[in-house]
Amino acid sequence: MRKKILVGNWKMNKNLSQTDQFLKSINNDLNFKKNKRFIVAPSFVNLEHAVKKSRNSPVEICCQNISEFEEGAYTGEVSAKMLSSVGVNIVIIGHSERRELFSENNEVLKNKIKTALNNNFEIIFCFGENLSERKNNNHLNAVKDQIINTLFEFDSNDLKKIILAYEPIWAIGTGENATAEQAQQIHFFVRELIENKFGIDIASNLTILYGGSLKPNNSKELFEKKDVDGGLVGGASLNPDSFLEIYRSL
Ligand code: PGA
Repeated sequence: MRKKILVGNWKMNKNLSQTDQFLKSINNDLNFKKNKRFIVAPSFVNLEHAVKKSRNSPVEICCQNISEFEEGAYTGEVSAKMLSSVGVNIVIIGHSERRELFSENNEVLKNKIKTALNNNFEIIFCFGENLSERKNNNHLNAVKDQIINTLFEFDSNDLKKIILAYEPIWAIGTGENATAEQAQQIHFFVRELIENKFGIDIASNLTILYGGSLKPNNSKELFEKKDVDGGLVGGASLNPDSFLEIYRSL
């Protein structure tokens, strides 16, 4: 049975005291259920504090990025080993903002996945079509290309450490979410792709999250779909109340 997972991607938001405040209020109010993981991704500089703060709570801390390189002369980069040394072992890779704004192409993403796996990280791998691909009815092909050109280079054991997140770019930060039917169609499609390549066991145990303007007023309907196993939340994860409400709907 695959676990349900809710992930909050804070992007470049929240300083140290805001991070502290958020975790304090979550730790007080989180009605944690064992079969529903609760993960938060603060910025790099606040990770160590967040890990310490969450040590005796079910909240898991994740990073938003990772260097594709192991170590050395890479100014401004943060390595997997640095992250593990402060207690972080989950990473988001392939977010559309990284692909678009920081030119992370499939080669870079594959290297990041390799490095993360070599360092025993669990990976939340994002994919999703843009607006013109959706409008031209080319979304299935777009998604298929992204999956084939990255994940298909790995093996079944690697896939056990990977969580997928379907994030249609047109829905991210726009207030316009994919409908539950649209999400289910893609999640089912991707699970089938994975099944054809890696087998039924891997596919049926694969967690596939939905992300893109997920809010308390639309999460329940999306989470009710058979192949939607949770969410990756941006804007609504910044506020503990809305984030907890989404968690309750999972
Ligand atoms: P959003 O962002 O919830 O603000 O649309 C989602 C994401 O980028 O992961």
